Amino acid sequence: MRNIGQKYGIIGQSEEIKQVIRVIEQVAPSDISILIFGESGVGKELVAKALHDLSLRKHGKYVIVNCGAIPAGTIESELFGHKKGSYTGAMEDRKGFFETADKGTILLDEIGELPLETQVKLLRTLEQGEITRVGESTPKKVDVRVIGATNRDLTADVGSGKFRQDLYFRLKTIMIRIPPLRERKDDIPMLAEYFMMTYADKNNLAYKPITPQAMSLISDATWEGNVRELKNFIQSVFVLEEDKMIRGETVRKHLGNSSEQTMYDTRFPVRVNKQADQVERELILRQLFFIRQDVEEIKEKLSVIDTSDEMTMSRMKDITQYIKHSDLSEVHEDISLDDRTLQEVEKEMISQTLKKYYGSKRKTAQALGMSERTLYRKIKEYDLND
Ligand SMILES: Nc1ncnc2c1ncn2[C@@H]1O[C@H](COP(=O)(O)OP(=O)(O)O)[C@@H](O)[C@H]1O
Ligand SMILES: [Mg+2]
Repeated sequence: MRNIGQKYGIIGQSEEIKQVIRVIEQVAPSDISILIFGESGVGKELVAKALHDLSLRKHGKYVIVNCGAIPAGTIESELFGHKKGSYTGAMEDRKGFFETADKGTILLDEIGELPLETQVKLLRTLEQGEITRVGESTPKKVDVRVIGATNRDLTADVGSGKFRQDLYFRLKTIMIRIPPLRERKDDIPMLAEYFMMTYADKNNLAYKPITPQAMSLISDATWEGNVRELKNFIQSVFVLEEDKMIRGETVRKHLGNSSEQTMYDTRFPVRVNKQADQVERELILRQLFFIRQDVEEIKEKLSVIDTSDEMTMSRMKDITQYIKHSDLSEVHEDISLDDRTLQEVEKEMISQTLKKYYGSKRKTAQALGMSERTLYRKIKEYDLND
């Protein structure tokens, strides 16, 4: 059982998570619809993916639809497809997510956000195994397993008329509730180690051990954003701290004294208090900034090398290796890196650091790890002189 959890990346050793994994194993092979319920960041998507991967449909498509992100006006056509001319803007016949997911699984994330009319159609699809494209009258058979996920209390929504009772009953036959992290603190150390390890691995960096004192602080934090917040926290600490170990004082500093996460970089005056995605993006951009600095420095050094000297040539080899590892395009696949983006990052970094040190070029150059000469050149290049 433990193996199944690990194979699908579901980490944890609490009774609660073991129970979740047991249910996944039991219900995955059937075609029955499932409702996954839990706060944001507890791992609903992870569980849904495991259900698909463990099912007989694993070779079929797995389609995720975020019902909360699609405007009410187009959701029906997105889900069920439409006929050309069925509404203004429907230029072509188009198949919807259900047809795309035929023989596979569809995850309706934030299913509580579906408009009532769409809920009626969904119920029909669940009961009859068919869909009707918008603007058509003949239904088509589809063979799709439906998983719904929600962080809303759907019983309350049924009570207030926002969610149809018949659909709710249909979905909740099998409900997997994933408890918030604060109700399964036993999972925290294992998750923290796991994120530390995978992050180090992925970026080719050395693993940083977490001291017992630091771990107990991490375990006692509230983690309102659940596993997602813990994951981001570990990655931030990893990147922002230069220490080889994660210590208690470091954790305390980064946790702050409120549950609202506020982080300070030791080197940059950028206060981070943003959406997780944005924090992640920023961290990556900073790494890129440093790599760019390194590469530039190496280039400068290479231009004055004496190629007849043996020692120097052997150092050259190391440097070449280093440059290979610093290939900017490989740092993160999600961010498209044109040179303009990098220049913007650099410009932003320099301008913020200058502000922090009230315009002192010497201190700014020092904080950014570049020579004053380079700094002057860049200030001129980016026109930062005021
Ligand atoms: N038990 C777990 N083991 C490993 N990673 C997890 C676990 N639970 C959640 N995560 C990670 O936390 C993040 C949020 O999970 P996700 O499934 O998107 O949550 P939700 O859909 O409930 O908001 C993802 O990066 C996911 O991989
Ligand atoms: Mg989610």
